Amino acid sequence: MAETPETNKPDFRNGFPIRDLGDGSMISGQADGEELVLARRGDEVFAIGAHCTHYGGPLAEGLIVGDTVRCPWHHACFSLRNGEALRAPALDPVPCWRIERLGDKIFVREKLSPPTPKRATEGPSSVVIVGGGAAGLAAADMLRREGYDGPLTIVSADASPPVDRPNLSKDYLAGTAQEDWIPLRPPEYYRDRRIDLLLHSRVSSLDTKGRRIVLEDGKALEFGALLLATGADPVHLPIEGATDSQLHYLRTFADSKAIIGKASSAKRVVVVGASFIGLEVAASLCTRGISVEVVAPDSQPLERIMGADVGQFIRKLHEAHGVTFHLGVTVSGVNGRAVTLTDGTHLEADFIVLGVGVRPSLTLAEQAGLAIDRGIEVNEYLETSTAGIFAAGDAARWPNPHTGERIRVEHWVVAERMGQVAAKNILGRREKFDAVPFFWSQHYDVAINYVGHAEKWDAIEIDGSLDARDCAVVYKKGGRTLATVTISRDLQSLQAEGAMETGIRLQRREVA
Ligand SMILES: Cc1cc2nc3c(=O)[nH]c(=O)nc-3n(C[C@H](O)[C@H](O)[C@H](O)COP(=O)(O)OP(=O)(O)OC[C@H]3O[C@@H](n4cnc5c(N)ncnc54)[C@H](O)[C@@H]3O)c2cc1C
Ligand code: FES
Repeated sequence: MAETPETNKPDFRNGFPIRDLGDGSMISGQADGEELVLARRGDEVFAIGAHCTHYGGPLAEGLIVGDTVRCPWHHACFSLRNGEALRAPALDPVPCWRIERLGDKIFVREKLSPPTPKRATEGPSSVVIVGGGAAGLAAADMLRREGYDGPLTIVSADASPPVDRPNLSKDYLAGTAQEDWIPLRPPEYYRDRRIDLLLHSRVSSLDTKGRRIVLEDGKALEFGALLLATGADPVHLPIEGATDSQLHYLRTFADSKAIIGKASSAKRVVVVGASFIGLEVAASLCTRGISVEVVAPDSQPLERIMGADVGQFIRKLHEAHGVTFHLGVTVSGVNGRAVTLTDGTHLEADFIVLGVGVRPSLTLAEQAGLAIDRGIEVNEYLETSTAGIFAAGDAARWPNPHTGERIRVEHWVVAERMGQVAAKNILGRREKFDAVPFFWSQHYDVAINYVGHAEKWDAIEIDGSLDARDCAVVYKKGGRTLATVTISRDLQSLQAEGAMETGIRLQRREVA
């Protein structure tokens, strides 16, 4: 969250020497008590708000790319010219100020008006979005920003309006984030933008020829264009002897609240699965003073995704906070509070949380006969095999221009960016989806950032030290960088993302 201005920062109202601001660099300061950043690109200087509108990341520590600035924490991208949030996870603009150059000094003058939605634009007769999550909300937001004026409906099986899902396993579950931080938008947002939000409503069928969907309660909705943003569902693991009330999964706000409800009187919890969600749950419950044991078949947590070294680092990090791991085993049965593992070990648990992965939610798309390939198949414009029907987020598999392979990922920022690009393409903009995949994960005070996509690699190079919590881990195949994990090296993460984007642009030029 934004801090109060520090008084020792330069006051840009009094002028700032341009020679002290190198090309491509930024400096933070203030004007009338508001924190802002001066950013220089060639001969141009811009003044923008100091804090990212996502979680308040310090933009001065980010990266200038063209006439944009990237946030160091989760890579949101803002226009330096008008502050617009060009790419998720930030959805709101940062303020901008007018600049005046007098002699060799830069003066910050009055605040500029925030960017307004584009003028009403042609588009489909109506847009229906199935899914009230990351991709669905970002798409609806972008449709209105791009000037789409027609009927717009989000249908969501969730009971709550779109929420900050990543927070459900982190600060909210740990008890350090308030409940009112969790909804992504307040109720008036939907009212003001005329976004019809149908909650607790599951779409049961899609008629691609008749251009309509039918909800479980029988209500039908026609659409001019459709976005499938149905996300993914947690994999359910049957555990012999366990009752439903003992087993918890975590996907929705309600799931997180249910775990918190149980946590208030729990002393011991077993987490099954050393996935990101499983480990984040372990960290958050530890923060609540609960004794947590993690059971997983892997030899190191997250080894398949980030390799043995990072896996071992994460394991040691959790162990230092009191988590006990039982690796190479699974749960064979439960009897009351007694949990038995496949190696005969007995544990005790007040309840069990399962974080054993998710499956893309494909039922609707499959029933409608859309092309499926371990996800809803989409082209580079995020359009499915049926014209006018788009898909985005965890459910969609798209052609990744960086590797040439079709991929499907489960990342918040990717889902939102897909939603934003799908929205533009619903309006006929023909924008290719070429974002470099990015995700972050938080374990206690350690944030792990990941850019790129490496399912398999033949070399891992570590620059710096995992133990010192200061490193970049590079995953390569055939000498080519596929992905980079960073800890405490946010700028390097942004630079790695930029290098991959440049790679995509160069490839395109060669092809052209
Ligand atoms: C606890 C948790 C923590 C996470 N932390 C991180 C993180 O730190 N970093 C990161 O990058 N990613 C994280 N993720 C993953 C991230 O949240 C997902 O990648 C992202 O939410 C995917 O967005 P989506 O829009 O595709 O799906 P979702 O956000 O899951 O939304 C899907 C929506 O579709 C609705 N739906 C599905 N089927 C139907 C239907 N038939 N009819 C109507 N509605 C339907 C659902 O109700 C839901 O509203 C986390 C996920 C969870 C659960
Ligand atoms: S705080 Fe800036 S992207 Fe998250």
